[in-house]
Amino acid sequence: MKLEKYYVPEKAELKLDGKVYELPVMVGEEGEKAIDISRLRSMTGCITLDYGYMNTGSCASAITYLDGDKGILSYRGYSIEDLAEKCTFVEVAYLLVHGALPTETELKGFSGMLNKYSLLHEDMVHFFDRFPPGSPPMSILSSMVNALAVFYPDMISNPIENIDKMSARLISKVRTIAAFSYKKAMGQPLVYPRHDYSYCANFLNMMFHSSVDPYEVNPIVVDALNKLLILHGDHEQNCSTSTVRLVGSAHVNLYASISAGISALWGPLHGGANQAVIEMLERIHLEGGNYRKYIEKAKDANDPFRLVGFGHRVYKNHDPRARIIKKACDDVLQALKIEDPLLDLAKEIEEVALTDSYFVERRLYPNVDFYSGIIYKAIGIPTDMFTVMFALGRLPGWIAHWKEMWDDDNWKIGRPRQIYVGPVARPFVPMEERSL
Ligand code: ACO
Repeated sequence: MKLEKYYVPEKAELKLDGKVYELPVMVGEEGEKAIDISRLRSMTGCITLDYGYMNTGSCASAITYLDGDKGILSYRGYSIEDLAEKCTFVEVAYLLVHGALPTETELKGFSGMLNKYSLLHEDMVHFFDRFPPGSPPMSILSSMVNALAVFYPDMISNPIENIDKMSARLISKVRTIAAFSYKKAMGQPLVYPRHDYSYCANFLNMMFHSSVDPYEVNPIVVDALNKLLILHGDHEQNCSTSTVRLVGSAHVNLYASISAGISALWGPLHGGANQAVIEMLERIHLEGGNYRKYIEKAKDANDPFRLVGFGHRVYKNHDPRARIIKKACDDVLQALKIEDPLLDLAKEIEEVALTDSYFVERRLYPNVDFYSGIIYKAIGIPTDMFTVMFALGRLPGWIAHWKEMWDDDNWKIGRPRQIYVGPVARPFVPMEERSL
């Protein structure tokens, strides 16, 4: 990636130990500014300290742009609103990985590969029997994706030339793994992928079809699932994507890097939040619907409770994805004629929180997870699989970042530094002289 054109004549000045250092400044395509500190340590002997990387750019990227203050999100220059309205998930997956929307022929080719690679090696299918009952589906997913590296080692040594096939293989097989892990957990026979279904319809059929109760694909559900997966497609350098990049920076293979990303996404402060939202709403509902008590708990500085589904590290105005999801949620519940008291509860909480000074002052808005769980629940996805659904959507984004990193001539193995605050050098104490 050539970055010279992004450097501007302006320099940042740093005064330290009586000296003035000049640091280069760059400006990205959307006007965001950065001070390039890549030579800071060699010039000054200093490193920077930035817990949570709140101010640290780890790379330059051409995949996703987001402006948290304005509530803007776009993939490869296309607004999330347009993509969610006008595309299928497969088109957006292609866009993320390849950088351009597919032509009709390219889409046909990519969809053909998704079909071709949709089966799992039968030896891998036996793995599902060895996980103890009740195993978290994210743990199964992460393990199975790591195992893909040994079952499908071809192309690992030249991934970039084969990124089309590798990404199709991953995107297709992760869907099969997700559906199979559900069927196994339910003790039901597996339903294999079908070539005559679209990506989302195929997933729904693998999840919910049974020989005694055939699944009827509902286009409104397919549309909502497409939107959910598109909205989760990428979100620049979030925790799981940074994990994929960091692990991949050691030049480990794509499958192992993605498996690490899945583990990062599992965390309740990241991808696990959609599950936590439903659990929170269920708890409030079971306790008689007194949501005001929970709003007060969330505001209490001495109470660790947080209103899950509110707040975002980056979006401090609104989460553009939440608006689209809220509409899709209404459509699905209406189409399926579901009256969900949890949705009513969610709407009441949103209304109160949006006008409460605690939330307003801290700029805490509903995030994408606040409504996505209600859609998943309505279409029959079990709560413990919500984060798996997130992973399914995020997969093309992870692949795109991994590819971008491999292709980047500025690539370096990820290796942050630290400020050491432990004991200073001291003499070794032999066992007999150590006191209790
Ligand atoms: N409920 C109540 N108070 C909150 C919430 C919340 N959901 N989120 C933040 N706050 C408060 C904090 O207590 C803090 O208050 P203070 O200034 O009085 O100490 C202030 O708002 C700032 O909070 P931070 O934790 O510094 O904000 P940060 O940007 O680091 O955190 C995060 C973002 C982790 C998402 C946070 O808002 C949160 O925990 N939300 C709930 C979990 C959640 O919904 N996660 C999903 C995120 S979306 C995704 O990953 C796809």
